[in-house]
Amino acid sequence: MRRVSSRSVVYIRKAAPTVWPFVKDTFMDHAPAERLQALLARIRAAEQQYGRTPGAVRLLAVSKTQPASAITALAAAGQHCFGENYLNEALDKCAALAHLDLEWHFIGPIQANKTRGIAEHFAWAHSVDRLKIAERLSAQRPASLPPLNICLQVNIDREPTKHGLDASEVATVARAVATLPRLRLRGLMAIPAPASGFAAQRAPLSRLRELWQQLNHAGLALDTLSMGMSDDLEAAIAEGSTLVRIGTALFGPRP
Ligand SMILES: Cc1ncc(COP(=O)(O)O)c(C=O)c1O
Repeated sequence: MRRVSSRSVVYIRKAAPTVWPFVKDTFMDHAPAERLQALLARIRAAEQQYGRTPGAVRLLAVSKTQPASAITALAAAGQHCFGENYLNEALDKCAALAHLDLEWHFIGPIQANKTRGIAEHFAWAHSVDRLKIAERLSAQRPASLPPLNICLQVNIDREPTKHGLDASEVATVARAVATLPRLRLRGLMAIPAPASGFAAQRAPLSRLRELWQQLNHAGLALDTLSMGMSDDLEAAIAEGSTLVRIGTALFGPRP
């Protein structure tokens, strides 16, 4: 069967579920290094197309539910930053891969009883959506580690069942988080509701970027807009993303 690019894979998966099992086979035939290069090329092409500085967008490889061996393969191909959603699963992988120089980012919902594990083992937490959680992370961050990098998660489409701050609360929480001693507030993160079509994808990402700009105008020095996943990374880069969180387009479908 003809080989397909990782970009085509995502669209074929969405458009034609009956074709996906066959495409999946060829997708997974590609070596991890090839898939990583294809994705980085896709990111660099979007930077160029939308007038972004070359290299302005970092890639966070979303390795949730992927085995440590898949992370090792991507790390060998040069990927440094990995994102995990579930603490216990992540801690197992951090321990198994402690010999590698990896940067771990927590991107899943954060319950109060998970903050210590995150504070002790991660470089970043992208999904902080309550001041209480930020206070616990700051209090529990070991003195031996640099401050924990934080993004506030915004429920940008106001979906009732989704995590994240309401846009109207963000400025107040951001100002409070910025004063916490063991945290470094870096920016905002969102997971927009699924949307088809480029313009529909851009709308919530544009709102997140505007919110981020307002906070920066108000004096918070935020350098990170954590937005863009496999299906909307071009729209996110067009809207100013500085970090895309990519799982499926890199690892294939989650096991
Ligand atoms: C917070 C977050 N960001 C990014 C991703 C990656 O999504 P995708 O597999 O569509 O690239 C996930 C996947 O579940 C996620 O939970």
